[in-house]
Amino acid sequence: MDTIRERLASFPRLRNSLLPTPVHRLDHLSDEHGVEVFCKRDDLTGFGFGGNKTRKLDFLLAHAQSLACDTLIAIGANQSNFCRMAASYGMAAGLEVHLVLGGAEPETPTGNLRLDHLLGVRCHHVDSTDWGDWACAAERLEEELASRGRRVYRMPVGGSTPRGALGYVDAFGEILRDQSRLDVEFSAILHASSSAGTQAGLLAGQALAGWAGEVLGISVAKPQTELESEVFELAHATAADLGAAVEASRVAVDECYMGPAYAVRTPECEEAVTLFAQRYGIFLDYVYSGKAAAALIDYLRKGRFEKGAAVLFIHTGGNVELFE
Ligand SMILES: Cc1ncc(COP(=O)(O)O)c(C=O)c1O
Repeated sequence: MDTIRERLASFPRLRNSLLPTPVHRLDHLSDEHGVEVFCKRDDLTGFGFGGNKTRKLDFLLAHAQSLACDTLIAIGANQSNFCRMAASYGMAAGLEVHLVLGGAEPETPTGNLRLDHLLGVRCHHVDSTDWGDWACAAERLEEELASRGRRVYRMPVGGSTPRGALGYVDAFGEILRDQSRLDVEFSAILHASSSAGTQAGLLAGQALAGWAGEVLGISVAKPQTELESEVFELAHATAADLGAAVEASRVAVDECYMGPAYAVRTPECEEAVTLFAQRYGIFLDYVYSGKAAAALIDYLRKGRFEKGAAVLFIHTGGNVELFE
């Protein structure tokens, strides 16, 4: 058994998602720039239109079940992909699901919120954009539900705890198997980064495997230094639970593709979303995967990767946003 599988074996997980995810060679970009560019379709992980959060939920929901919890609380913005996936996976696992959603309740629900309503989960709106206010509201809700006898499993924004990050430790092992299958060696893995869990899990996986490449997180919400320290803290805790250590020098976040703020469209992101749709039939979104793809395209144009190198772009999902 490989080290990653061996170390993960002691953590309970659900295995209901559609894994492993497909990997496409992005022909035009590869041929144009002389770099082998691949896209891993983590938008196809199953449950509620898929996305990176399914992998975290595999471990989080199994943890909830191992603690005999019957109720789930997930936190996020009105358009949260994590909440939509927690709602769909949580319902399928037989749990009562509550979503604490930041931002005033819109008159006409669209995108993820519409799906949350379809799933029949309880939505609690908090009219604030401050993540701290959302967390306080979720704590109060947990107390209220507990006083009614519910056993609650409360997850932070993005499900980014050491337990949730195990989903991307596992994904890292899957990427190593993708490499063997495709007969390539990636020199870099690039993805959208926001609540740190995806990047932290990949870095912990890298530490376990002793992989020499770069994990590049493209920040869509936070300044570089802030996100780097969150990623390091979570990667450190995740790796420690697995008996490994992450070096701070491995943490790389690029804030240059975020634009003026979270969820504000940039022309480069619009170009990337259009290019992926028209050339590859792959739908990105304007909040996460489109900004990471904008970074990928810019890096290729600027010659950041060596000619002949292979790079992997993880499509982390989010394309329900196209229906907002
Ligand atoms: C579509 C999509 N991509 C990327 C991310 C970033 O993942 P993480 O929060 O683990 O950094 C998110 C998180 O909300 C997301 O919804």
